[in-house]
Amino acid sequence: MHSAPTWDPHQYLRHSGHRTRPFLDLLARIPDLPRGDGRPARIADVGCGPGNVTTLLADRWPDAHITGFDLSPEMLALAEKDHAGTTAGGGWLDFRPADAAHWIPEEPYDLIVSNAALQWVPNHPESFPRWIDGLTPGGTLAFQVPGNFTSPSHALLGELCDTPQWRSRLGDHGRRFVHILEPADYLARLADLGCEADTWETTYFQLLAGEDPVLDWVKGTALRPVLTELADDANATHEFLAQYRDLLRKAYPPGPHGTVFPFRRIFAVARKAL
Ligand SMILES: C[S@@+](CC[C@H](N)C(=O)[O-])C[C@H]1O[C@@H](n2cnc3c(N)ncnc32)[C@H](O)[C@@H]1O
Repeated sequence: MHSAPTWDPHQYLRHSGHRTRPFLDLLARIPDLPRGDGRPARIADVGCGPGNVTTLLADRWPDAHITGFDLSPEMLALAEKDHAGTTAGGGWLDFRPADAAHWIPEEPYDLIVSNAALQWVPNHPESFPRWIDGLTPGGTLAFQVPGNFTSPSHALLGELCDTPQWRSRLGDHGRRFVHILEPADYLARLADLGCEADTWETTYFQLLAGEDPVLDWVKGTALRPVLTELADDANATHEFLAQYRDLLRKAYPPGPHGTVFPFRRIFAVARKAL
C-alpha cells in the first residue's frame, strides 16, 4: 500500500494548454444531458485537480450544479480559492475531498466525468457499475486517461527507479503501476453494463518550448511519487532529477521548432439507457 503523492498545482498548471485539449476533445463527444423536468444538470468531476478543467463544464452547462472531487488537499485548496461559487451562467461550483477508489455517487448525476485522474486509481473499472447506477437515465460517464505508460518518458523513469542506487532509496515508491485498460477493454466493460459506449485514442504531438520541457512536464504528474518520497532530501532530489534529465535529453532532443513530446490518450464516453 502506498501513500498518495503530494501534488503541486502550480507545477501542474504550467502546461495547462496541452493538458486541457484532450478534455475539450472529450467534452465534444458528450451528448446533451437529460434534463426532462427542466432542472439544472447535476455533474461530478472525479479527480478534478485545480479545477480549471471543471470550469469548462460550466461553460457547456451554464446553470449546472457541478461538484469537483479530489484526494489532494493542495489541489482542492487551489480549486476552491480560484473557482468555487456561483458560475457566470447562474450555476454552482463546489469542491469536496473524495477518494475515487471508494467514491459512490451520493445523489443522481446527469454526468460523471474524469479527466487525467483514473490512471492513479487501481481497479477503477470495478467502480463503473456503481457509477452507472448513480447516473440518471440517459446520463453519461465520460473519462480520459493517459495511454503513454510505455513511452520513453515513463520507461526511462521506471528504469532509473530500478537501478540499485535508487531502488534501495525509493523501494517501490518511484514505480508507476499501470491501472489503465486499452480502449477495446473499456468499450467491452461499458457496453456490458448496458451503455451506449464510445471509446477511442489519440496521440498528440505536443510541441514544447524551453529547456528540458519534458522533465518540466513530468514534474507535474509522473514524477510526483518520486518527488514526494525524496521531499525531505534536497541532494537526492537534485541528483535524481539530473540523472533523469540526461536520459530525457537523449530521448527527446530539441528540434528546430521545439521539443516534440508525443502523448497518447484514451477516451471513453458511455451513455446510460433512457
Ligand atoms: C493529472 S491531475 C488531473 C486534474 C484535472 N482533472 C485536470 O484534468 O486538470 C490528477 C488528479 O487526480 C487526483 N487523484 C489521484 N488519485 C485520486 C483518487 N484516488 N481519488 C481522487 N482523486 C485522485 C490527483 O489528486 C490530481 O488532482
